[in-house]
Amino acid sequence: MRIELRRLTLSDLGEIDRIERQAYPTPWSRSMFAGELAKPSSISLGAFDADEQHMVGYLIISRYVDAWHIMNVAVDPPLRRHGIATQLLEELFNLTEGDPRRGYTLEVRVSNAHAIALYERLGFQATGVRRGYYTDNREDALIMWKDPVRVRQVG
Ligand SMILES: CC(C)(COP(=O)(O)OP(=O)(O)OC[C@H]1O[C@@H](n2cnc3c(N)ncnc32)[C@H](O)[C@@H]1OP(=O)(O)O)[C@@H](O)C(=O)NCCC(=O)NCCS
Repeated sequence: MRIELRRLTLSDLGEIDRIERQAYPTPWSRSMFAGELAKPSSISLGAFDADEQHMVGYLIISRYVDAWHIMNVAVDPPLRRHGIATQLLEELFNLTEGDPRRGYTLEVRVSNAHAIALYERLGFQATGVRRGYYTDNREDALIMWKDPVRVRQVG
């Protein structure tokens, strides 16, 4: 499958919602996504099947003073383990490289071993725990961090 990445727009909300509901026990509402998409300080990327033109995953990032915060990343269940989340995160690193002030951070459920493995492979490290962070089951969040990505040297 050929994957195409592009910025999300409000017309993508229906497909985002379909994937979101399969990805999380407490999914974001459409209006939460609409709010993120409207923020100039956010980067919202979608991955699409280039031939069928339907969405296969998405990534929502917020810019803070000292970090890019990964707010949400999800991939359509039948299409997981094909490198789609990796492509989305690598596109984020490409778009934001050379910003020495901002690293990358996120919270992830301590039980979400799949996501933790993905982030570790991309250079994130666990830096702390937020106790009882998730309100649905009081689960702890692992805080992960990756240092700023330097501009790649050519030649
Ligand atoms: C986490 C998630 C986004 C990963 O998406 P994905 O496109 O399947 O990830 P990738 O194919 O890029 O995986 C890259 C690497 O991450 C690790 N990984 C990802 N999913 C894994 C799994 N189910 N089991 C073990 N390792 C896994 C592996 O190291 C994998 O590399 P490999 O396939 O070569 O072994 C996806 O499983 C998902 O949507 N989960 C539900 C939502 C969620 O939990 N999001 C994160 C919230 S913080």
